[in-house]
Amino acid sequence: MTERRSLSGARVLLGITGGIAAYKTPELVRSLGREGARVSVILTKSARRFVTKDALRSVTHGPVLTDLFERDALGTGPWFEGAPPSSLGMAHIGLAREADLVLVAPTTANAIGKLAHGLADDLLSTALLATRSTVLLAPAMNVAMWEHAAVQENVAALRARGVHFVGPDDGELADGEVGMGRMATIEAIVAACGNALGAAKSNLQELGSRPRSARAAEAPYGSTLPPSTNGLPLRGRTIVVTAGGTEEPIDPVRVITNRSSGKMGFAIAEQARDLGATVRLITARTSAPAPAGVERSEAATATDMSDAVIKAMKDADALIMAAAVSDFTPAKKSGKKMPRSGSGLALELKATPDILMRVRARYPKKHLVGFALETEDELRHGKEKRKKKGLDLIAVNNPLKPGSAFGSDQNDVTLVDAAGRVEALGLRPKTEIARAILLRVAKALDKN
Ligand SMILES: Cc1cc2nc3c(=O)[nH]c(=O)nc-3n(C[C@H](O)[C@H](O)[C@H](O)COP(=O)(O)O)c2cc1C
Repeated sequence: MTERRSLSGARVLLGITGGIAAYKTPELVRSLGREGARVSVILTKSARRFVTKDALRSVTHGPVLTDLFERDALGTGPWFEGAPPSSLGMAHIGLAREADLVLVAPTTANAIGKLAHGLADDLLSTALLATRSTVLLAPAMNVAMWEHAAVQENVAALRARGVHFVGPDDGELADGEVGMGRMATIEAIVAACGNALGAAKSNLQELGSRPRSARAAEAPYGSTLPPSTNGLPLRGRTIVVTAGGTEEPIDPVRVITNRSSGKMGFAIAEQARDLGATVRLITARTSAPAPAGVERSEAATATDMSDAVIKAMKDADALIMAAAVSDFTPAKKSGKKMPRSGSGLALELKATPDILMRVRARYPKKHLVGFALETEDELRHGKEKRKKKGLDLIAVNNPLKPGSAFGSDQNDVTLVDAAGRVEALGLRPKTEIARAILLRVAKALDKN
């Protein structure tokens, strides 16, 4: 499980770029300080239009710098409160390398683009290339800028390289428009700092428990991961994830559906993205916000979803089938709205295609993970389902258990693998369940 690391004693380099939200950064520095972090600051020239160096100096004991060539940046520090002068030299190297975490808040579209393309034309962008530490970005910008294909491509490239993101949030923006683009709240940013520092650590620990053969392959790198994975166990893998509840049309206005919100599938897509995978998300009807930075397509009915999954799996490594797919569909669909009738209506239903069975028949070697939603004797039914469908892993859950209802942010899941091993994860946030499943998928894919 990802452990949230305390910020006590953590050296945080805070980069501030030129968005309106920069005015909130003195409060952010104070909040990080309250959590025990030692904060030093680099702000861009544009950021200085929104927040002053003096304001930042009054809340941090570390240096507050802007220019690559300013006198203080050319010295040897100390770069963090309590640290000795740097053996690594000037700020653009020493400060960047001595940080445990580089947080950029707010991050402009410009700064995202520069980092994605390796540009280094000021102190902050140079430090971002020089650091080997965890990088966390808190983007903030107008909704049209955030949705621009160039920005989204840059974000996807950075995520694939292991850069962490927090936000942006949905809501009213400084320019009056409404949409995705607000900087995440200070509380969320501080929490994300702890998560980002903890994620790097727990990925290493989880993968450290691999079987001997896999560890031997990594031996040249000691206890760390090979550089190619960069702490991202799903890097280079393509994972297909399904989410939401399918809708089977009765007539043009009525459907048979279920109460799935899509949250479990979205959590899996998000975590797979953060673990370095290329994610193909296929959604039926959902009622939760979809994650950014993943390729998404829609499939309304069980048949549409079956076709979409078969296609997406062609060159993918694994499928995680979190969508709630209808088992039945009306035998006949009326082309016109069926009129109310005093005598009621008998609907004839036929079975829908079993997607996992179809995928297994088509791709005998691919890694398949299914969910079994059962309301009684769930473990027995789950085990039978795993065997019947030839799944590598099944996540068994019961929506009637306390805390596990549809739409909840938590779930109580038990995993059963192909060797029959049963692992009860207990009641946890869906993000943690998603991560647990994905780390097991990563291990299994590495063994093959
Ligand atoms: C009033 C004002 C507000 C701005 N707010 C943002 C913003 O929230 N996000 C953003 O990406 N750019 C914003 N910009 C544009 C950036 O300041 C501009 O792209 C600048 O080149 C960013 O430089 P930097 O990334 O080096 O800080 C704003 C510009 C102005 C004039």
